[in-house]
Amino acid sequence: MLLQENISLRPYNTFGIDAKARYFATFADTDELEETLNLKAQIPKLILGGGSNILFTKNFDGLILKNEIKGITELHEDSEYVYVKAGAGENWHQFVLHCIERNWAGVENLSLIPGNVGASPMQNIGAYGVEIEDVFWDLEAWHIKDQKKVTFTKSDCEFGYRESVFKGKVKDQFVILNVTYQLRKTPRFNTSYGAIEQELERMGVKTISIRAISDAVINIRSSKLPNPKEIGNAGSFFKNPTISAALFENLKGAFENIVGYHNADGTVKLAAGWLIEQCGWKGYRKGDAGCHTKQALVLVNYGHADGNEIYNLSEEILQSVKEKFGVILEREVNII
Ligand code: FAD
Ligand code: EPU
Repeated sequence: MLLQENISLRPYNTFGIDAKARYFATFADTDELEETLNLKAQIPKLILGGGSNILFTKNFDGLILKNEIKGITELHEDSEYVYVKAGAGENWHQFVLHCIERNWAGVENLSLIPGNVGASPMQNIGAYGVEIEDVFWDLEAWHIKDQKKVTFTKSDCEFGYRESVFKGKVKDQFVILNVTYQLRKTPRFNTSYGAIEQELERMGVKTISIRAISDAVINIRSSKLPNPKEIGNAGSFFKNPTISAALFENLKGAFENIVGYHNADGTVKLAAGWLIEQCGWKGYRKGDAGCHTKQALVLVNYGHADGNEIYNLSEEILQSVKEKFGVILEREVNII
């Protein structure tokens, strides 16, 4: 185990923020994790995956542990499903491609989401009509204080829209070690998200397959989301806010083009990108901090913005959306 001191986190977060970590180590198995945790028992810890949903607004005066637990194993199968366990340090998109190659269905709509397997249940990652909870079976996590492995079933995880128990009541208590997914042997294609059907048509796809859906999702995402290798970002900076149907009707009276989706429970999810664009932020830039030109929900670092510049811009956006629409945005990105 190599414990580094005072290192720059710039290569370890997709915003490209140049914050420093007091200590930094990687771990490839539970023994190595336990050894490092014991060595620095008294200081704050942060578990890092691909760093694609995090904004450092200051140096981290503690120990950053980067999860590099690898391995993808087919555990068993029944007539309908295959149960596949993946190490938390596996790259998420590589895992998706691994499944597509074997015709294991369920994660194709989640193609090209940056980051690692271990973070996928943290905020119940979602895109194009699918969320992790739709394919999640269970996970193993390390309880930092009790120093033991604990299994979490789907109900234990308390999944919600961009939420789980790991962002809630057990926040910072567990290190996710591996995740097992329940994948279909016979695909059930999900093209309910309109843009997928349009893209499949544009691509001239005659016979639908999970590969074709994955390719369509990759095309759509690439057309509007900035590639973090070129422009620093962490995807959607805010969640899409949920409001009551009555409030939605009121807002519609004042803003007839407002974009909202009706949830099964009667509430409405508003497109935060639309709200932000209407406040005039899309394409805005101040120094190196900005609001993406093609997707207003994505804040970007054009080079050398620090975490506070990005955070302050998010605060200005939040205030203007509140003033214009009376709706309070909630940040999706983890602020450190
Ligand atoms: P990190 O950023 O490293 O960590 C995120 C949080 O999880 C932190 O609080 C961290 O402490 C914790 N954590 C990470 N790993 C572990 C672990 N093993 N054990 C315990 N805690 C852990 N998200 C979506 O849901 N849908 C999208 O469509 C989407 N699109 C994106 C597009 C772009 C261009 C970018 C940059 C991001 C996008 N995201 C999206 C956000 C991001 O990719 C996901 O949240 C992803 O799951 C983060 O993974 P990560 O490994 O980078 O996590
Ligand atoms: N819109 C605008 N202007 C914009 C952006 C969006 O008007 O600048 C409106 C459009 O009407 C558009 C609608 O908002 O049709 C929805 O936009 P989009 O399809 O791009 O999706 P989103 O709601 O902005 C969510 C997720 C994404 C996920 C996509 C696809 C959240 C917070 N974000 O974005 O997840 O990839 O749907 O399913 O739920 C992420 O979490 O980091 C992320 C990128």
